[in-house]
Amino acid sequence: MTFTRETCQQVDAICEAHGNNESHLLPILQEAQELSPYHYISQEVASYIASKLNVTLAHVSAVISFFSSLSTEPRGKHVIQICKSTACLVNGYQNIRDSLEEHLGIKVGQVTDDQMFSLEYTECIGACDVSPAIRIDKTVHGNLTHEKVATILSEIRGR
Ligand code: FES
Repeated sequence: MTFTRETCQQVDAICEAHGNNESHLLPILQEAQELSPYHYISQEVASYIASKLNVTLAHVSAVISFFSSLSTEPRGKHVIQICKSTACLVNGYQNIRDSLEEHLGIKVGQVTDDQMFSLEYTECIGACDVSPAIRIDKTVHGNLTHEKVATILSEIRGR
């Protein structure tokens, strides 16, 4: 994400909406990340937020690396997160991961050549009752099968 004057003003607005309060660092980072079409927080943005909140860049970086929903690397337009926690493990998240990798032609941790999708793991997304489950952007999809994965991806591609 290029750190333009506009980006700077948008980050200012986010920080000010949270009272420039360092205890609100997580929601500030989540909102700042959404400024990027590639769903990541650049080094420049992380540094700027650190200076606005009067905390160290190391602290901001630690928070970004702790939460799987945050990233310092550009992601796809659509971020697919595969839950690998207990219920999804028991119900075969590995089969869903294999389906996704097959349909997208990438491995977990990669971004498709057209920048449309990135694939990553996450911890429990609160949909254990419909596991195996994934989250695509803000939407959770459960009771997944190979066929259902294909349908979901083609619907997104057709948007
Ligand atoms: S364990 Fe996967 S959604 Fe809870």
